[in-house]
Amino acid sequence: MHAVTVQYHEALLYKFFRPLLFWLDAETSHRLSFALLRSVYRLPGIRQLLRSCFARRAPAIPVNVMGINFSNPVGLAAGLDKNAEHIKPLLDFGFGFLELGTVTPRPQSGNPLPRMFRLVTNAALINRMGFNNVGVEKFIANLVPQEGYGPIGINIGKNRDTSLEQASDDYLRALRAVYIHADYISVNISSPNTSGLRDLQEEKNLSELLQRLKTEQTILAQKYRRYVPIALKIAPDLDDTQIGAIARLLLEYKFDAVIATNTTITRPGLHDETLSAQTGGLSGRPLKSLSTEIIRKLYTQLQGHIPIIGVGGVENADDAWEKLVAGADLIQIYTSLIYQGPANVYKIVRGLVQRLQASGCSNLKEAIAQARK
Ligand SMILES: Cc1cc2nc3c(=O)[nH]c(=O)nc-3n(C[C@H](O)[C@H](O)[C@H](O)COP(=O)(O)O)c2cc1C
Repeated sequence: MHAVTVQYHEALLYKFFRPLLFWLDAETSHRLSFALLRSVYRLPGIRQLLRSCFARRAPAIPVNVMGINFSNPVGLAAGLDKNAEHIKPLLDFGFGFLELGTVTPRPQSGNPLPRMFRLVTNAALINRMGFNNVGVEKFIANLVPQEGYGPIGINIGKNRDTSLEQASDDYLRALRAVYIHADYISVNISSPNTSGLRDLQEEKNLSELLQRLKTEQTILAQKYRRYVPIALKIAPDLDDTQIGAIARLLLEYKFDAVIATNTTITRPGLHDETLSAQTGGLSGRPLKSLSTEIIRKLYTQLQGHIPIIGVGGVENADDAWEKLVAGADLIQIYTSLIYQGPANVYKIVRGLVQRLQASGCSNLKEAIAQARK
């Protein structure tokens, strides 16, 4: 098919489907779209079509972070593919990497429905999913047949009924199970929807957790003769003292990366929005500057010694660039994918390529370093 025709159809398709999908409840439409994607994906020619509509439009803009080569710095944030079910189609959207999960040691159903809400005028979502997932065993069974595609990050969490005192046992259990299947592992201590989870960000709890994770990582690296980096995913609702303490511990334990940020329990700029009263974490446009500020503060503390994965309200290349210049080395998106569809991935990548070309630098890292001066 002619390239222009494909582009036209792809844009039209999402414009046509979006009102239909948005007419349904948020979680139903999510399930429906991915079930549909999975079934059509098996049809002959669909993979090629998806790739030519999306992935092939995302030019290579290579970057090496945590010792991993990424074809572009735009990744999928955790929470969309919690059970490792859609790896190939998601990579065909043009993502430079995917973060799967959050997966917990045992399966759990999460919070009662409804638990995901669209705040359309603010291009935002509120969710209180509560780590609904199939558990680490089934997760790996889903993942294994799709191995070889990536890079893949696996985001791990604790089960709801595991006490805070035992939380590190859950993380270690999940870490051991996913270790050889991941390019990197991210430790989620920042979801607002598992009671007490974010208390793990407090200095004493965090120190203990990071120490146990690093010790286990060393053991696993020797066992499998492969070092898999570990990133810590933090909340945007932290004050400067807390950010300082987290940065110190990340440096002390030589963590491999930090992901900033998860959703916020605050409601910035949502005065007229009735849904803003819903309990849960807010993502999308209203989270953007909050998460960028956290990245900026972290970067000041970490001084480039530990890479930052920037996430929160990235809707376009300008937002992505802003986070990179604030201190991020990679970025991730979730909510803007829901609002703008898969074409948004290559649009962001293309915008970054334009920035790189305009900078006169030969690679993205240099271009970012130049912009940070
Ligand atoms: C419906 C939904 C579910 C999410 N589930 C998870 C999760 O399981 N684990 C996690 O670390 N983050 C989860 N997140 C947070 C995202 O990974 C991301 O940090 C956040 O949404 C901010 O990015 P965005 O503004 O681009 O969506 C979830 C977000 C949404 C909207």
